[in-house]
Amino acid sequence: TGDMVAIREEIREWKERRKAVILAHYYQRPEVQEIADFVGDSLQLARQAAGVAAEVIVLCGVYFMAESAKILSPEKTVLLPEAGAGCPLADTAAAEEVRLRKEKIPGCIVVTYVNSSAAVKAESDIVCTSSNAVKVVNSLPADRPVLFVPDGNLGKYVSRQTGRKLFLWDGCCNVHHQLTAEDIRLARAAHPEALVMVHPECRPDVIDLADYVGGTGGMLRFAQESPHKAFIVGTEEGMIYPLRKACPDKALYPAASSLVCRDMKLTTLEKVKTALEMMEPQVEVDPGVAERARRALERMLEIS
Ligand code: 13P
Ligand code: SF4
Repeated sequence: TGDMVAIREEIREWKERRKAVILAHYYQRPEVQEIADFVGDSLQLARQAAGVAAEVIVLCGVYFMAESAKILSPEKTVLLPEAGAGCPLADTAAAEEVRLRKEKIPGCIVVTYVNSSAAVKAESDIVCTSSNAVKVVNSLPADRPVLFVPDGNLGKYVSRQTGRKLFLWDGCCNVHHQLTAEDIRLARAAHPEALVMVHPECRPDVIDLADYVGGTGGMLRFAQESPHKAFIVGTEEGMIYPLRKACPDKALYPAASSLVCRDMKLTTLEKVKTALEMMEPQVEVDPGVAERARRALERMLEIS
């Protein structure tokens, strides 16, 4: 529509004026992905934030992503167009609880999934994302106990992949956890020619039924490189859009209806424009917390 064209043009102008770069996660609304300079998974967004030459980063995603960008680029202004866009999974772990748990496991190494607050990252030895969690855990000394925070499903998956016993947190992502083995069986029956891809935040019995397990960036690569022509997509529905763009000749079916992360959908073009115009909401991280969280994030970036 005309309105859409106008707002896209305004965003482009403000972006230039502010010397800003727009980073978006794959779960963002299609129109938001379209105006982004870079669209990626959590790891790719962290890498971009660390390396990008811009004065302002507009993070179209959720709070922990903007915090990670700020931690890795403290000299830049980081804008989160909707300040209330959180991650219920990240909210399942508070720094104080992690500190208490850690004290009860003498000598433990704390591995923290990137879907967590800066304060929890600051309590951690190393961060991981869905794309490098197995690699991160495999890099740790075999004789030390490992506490994995906060996603229990991802923790169980990593434990199975690495053959290591992990101390788990009982957090989960409600969007991925709601996908059931029955959903996968029904989707397979409806589309027997399709391969099933699922995110490792899914339940173990869902993961058992998949042909491919990986984060959003991994799914995109897998679908592109596979000779198969049809895929059942077991993750947040926003992922269908980048998959369709990358694989226009392939069939893509959501594994279940209503796999929607409400927080991811809070970002709109209108809010992106307003954020650039007003230079807020800005995301700040306490410098002491940021310093400790940065060490854990950088350790991850070094090995992945
Ligand atoms: P990815 O790292 O796979 O992009 O996942 C982010 C996320 O929020 C999953 O729910
Ligand atoms: Fe958090 Fe789940 Fe939304 Fe990802 S999909 S941002 S893990 S609530």
